[in-house]
Amino acid sequence: MTETTAPYGSRGAAAPTTTKRVRIPHLRTMKERGEKWAMLTSYDMYTAQVFDAAGIPVLLVGDSASNNVYGYESSLPVTVDELLPLVRAVSRSVSRSLVLADLPFGSYQESPEQAFRTAARFMKEAGAHAVKLEGGMEMVPQVEKLTTNGIPVMAHIGFTPQSEHQLGGYRVQGRDEAADELVDQARALEAAGAFGVVMEMVPADAAQRVTEAVSIPTVGIGAGSSCDAQVLVWQDMMGLRTGKMPRFVKQYANLAETMGDAARAFAADVAQGSFPADEHSF
Ligand code: KIV
Repeated sequence: MTETTAPYGSRGAAAPTTTKRVRIPHLRTMKERGEKWAMLTSYDMYTAQVFDAAGIPVLLVGDSASNNVYGYESSLPVTVDELLPLVRAVSRSVSRSLVLADLPFGSYQESPEQAFRTAARFMKEAGAHAVKLEGGMEMVPQVEKLTTNGIPVMAHIGFTPQSEHQLGGYRVQGRDEAADELVDQARALEAAGAFGVVMEMVPADAAQRVTEAVSIPTVGIGAGSSCDAQVLVWQDMMGLRTGKMPRFVKQYANLAETMGDAARAFAADVAQGSFPADEHSF
């Protein structure tokens, strides 16, 4: 197997065929072969181990930890110091998956130098293999600075949650003639050295245009089925988060119900005195 042989076959990301670590050339090879793959968020040891063993090629320690781990209202408040230990836990727990660390709001927008300092912390202190940042043309200098200094970057265009106030809330981006802008942004980010681009909440036909316009993988979230890969927040797709879900989420499990049932059963056993039984006692 050569260094660029895709580590996951066309049977899909749930069927790992090798124990080789996923590297950026593998993702490009999968695009060339038309093999679609899945990315999931992960913020801790056990999910990282489970998703790694399930053959998920890329685990994103997203700034979505802000509202999925830390209990903030949005992705804006989470800090570098809060994300570093989560990235460290995930990167220590995988043997194959590529670990992608999200740069949080305010930690890279100021300048390419600021972006480099922050990204270097994620690589050195937490073992990230690559970083992700949000933005279009305005991020080209940051992407150039990072990639020419050894830090792989995944870009993120379309709806960018860190700019939710500027964008007027959670709204689909890139409709009609704005699709041209998305194509231009993706091309510029690719030329700057990005190894992939997340597209969030963009019309499926615009995402298809972008996917065809670049040779780096596109990763969709609410961007239709033409993207080279798809990403979801794990608590959304496994039903740990409850309440109204964005339209782009498909729920594959109901962990909130399973865990609630288990917690109630445990409490009932304790109340009735049936736990611990003899076999649980010394
Ligand atoms: O932080 C995150 O989880 C993300 C994904 C939604 C792409 O950026």
